[in-house]
Amino acid sequence: MPDPSQSQPRSPLASLAIIAAVIAVGAAAFAYTAGWFSPDRLTPTRLVGALAPPDGPALGHRRNHAKGICFTGMFEASGNGTALSRATAFVAGQYPVVGRFNLGTPDPNATDATVRVRGIGVQISTPDGEVWRMAMIDPPIFPVSTPQAFYELLEASKSKDPEVMKAFAAAHPEFAAFGKWATTAPWTASYAEVAFNSLNAFIFTDSAGADHAVRWSLVPQAQVTPISGSDLEKLGPNHLEEDITNRVGNAPQRWTMVLTEGEASDPTSDPTKSWPPERKTVQAGTLIVQKIEAEADGPCRDINFDPTILPDGIEVSDDPFPAARSAAYAKSYDLRTSEASYYPRTAGSTKP
Ligand code: HEM
Repeated sequence: MPDPSQSQPRSPLASLAIIAAVIAVGAAAFAYTAGWFSPDRLTPTRLVGALAPPDGPALGHRRNHAKGICFTGMFEASGNGTALSRATAFVAGQYPVVGRFNLGTPDPNATDATVRVRGIGVQISTPDGEVWRMAMIDPPIFPVSTPQAFYELLEASKSKDPEVMKAFAAAHPEFAAFGKWATTAPWTASYAEVAFNSLNAFIFTDSAGADHAVRWSLVPQAQVTPISGSDLEKLGPNHLEEDITNRVGNAPQRWTMVLTEGEASDPTSDPTKSWPPERKTVQAGTLIVQKIEAEADGPCRDINFDPTILPDGIEVSDDPFPAARSAAYAKSYDLRTSEASYYPRTAGSTKP
């Protein structure tokens, strides 16, 4: 008697049909992910595409914050941050850092005084193998509340018709606070004098398992000397990189990491809304920038400062930005690292 558990051999045609069906499902999944079925859906490809200037992106470079300079140093944790998070980076000690000062522009050759937003990428590594990456900027609030609105802002700001930007601002009243900062905040002539803000809120979990909503800042320990945009322009197109190279060459530069704990009434999902200034803060430690490194093919080039790369003890909140940023940064990273003949290298370097 035949064994009923043994099935009959499948015909070659049926096998081919199954293979074709598997390939079709896979292709459909890729097409869905790429947004081909829903051209209006906000995909990383569309977000990154919207960052590109009208004459196209600078190939081989970050699709935003393309102008920058790399550094190495350490994070010296005070131990106070352990009140909010069990992340090892907050246990008193010194942890190696790779970071990058940068300007919020898709143009790696932009003149310093033409770029209002300054940023910093930081990676802190701890001996237990945990890594914390962050990318922060100097405005105290983000211009818009959602990734979709950020896409619309990018599109509107590229229009030659001034009415388009006016219509955007009218439809997004939350944009006004950023607009005010961008037009009235003083400039400084040094990255060492810039305060950088996470803006996005994250959930910190302490060693007892309690959660805390946190935003954080890196506050400069250097004396801040405000200057006008036109005075910055007079210092030259690449003053910020020259200045930070000289300063760090003379002495390490320091920023205090200040954690701000939100209360239940403070919005965690909207980076356009600042939290009341009286909120409890904790000085978690000091970022010490010890060495300026080559931008072209130094230790930052191959790092994606994805803000969702978080150690145990820190998680994303209901803020929609980190997930959208993670997907867009990965897209940018894939593009720039695959543009092999444009990928930055210092002259004569053998680094791939
Ligand atoms: C949906 C909103 C956003 C999009 C689409 C976006 C897009 C990007 C892209 C494509 C890059 C280049 C990534 C790479 O190639 O490695 C980048 C870098 C950066 N972004 Fe964003 N970004 C967004 C929001 C933000 C926010 C809210 C902040 C700060 C709070 C921020 C700060 C930075 C910084 C500092 C860098 C440079 C990091 C580095 O040196 O590699 N971005 N962004």
